[in-house]
Amino acid sequence: ASILVLHGPNLNLLGTREPGVYGSQTLDDINTSLQQAATDAGHHLQCLQSNAEYELIERIHTARPEGINFIIFNPAAFTHTSVALRDALLAVDIPFIEVHLSNVYQRDEFRHHSFFSDIAKGVICGLGAQGYLLALQAAIAALENN
Ligand code: DQA
Repeated sequence: ASILVLHGPNLNLLGTREPGVYGSQTLDDINTSLQQAATDAGHHLQCLQSNAEYELIERIHTARPEGINFIIFNPAAFTHTSVALRDALLAVDIPFIEVHLSNVYQRDEFRHHSFFSDIAKGVICGLGAQGYLLALQAAIAALENN
């Protein structure tokens, strides 16, 4: 199957960005391990990071005609602000898992609300980079049971 991993704003800075909160792995490290795990399981995985909301929206739009079966999404700061990204996911109707590196519930009050959690298949937060791999495992299990 085809899996798309989307990373929102500022995640390109992983590795140097608040490592106490987000860990020391770079985005390339994370994408490489996801790629490896997906290939090992016989699936196809693509990754995109963008700091621009419209770019993430357009990538979600093209996912449907392209035949993407599952999305793993860390919307980063857009988690707490973006009705437009929420609507894009509802429009394409592709199942997705929401991932956050940090435990957003231990942080600022404004990070406690997500525009995605109630429409996600599941949510993983606070487990660092491992959260993405757990999401991939769950996505693969869901796809293989279909
Ligand atoms: C984040 C949590 C968000 O609140 C924050 O804006 C991010 C990253 C995380 O992965 O922990 O940029 O999504």
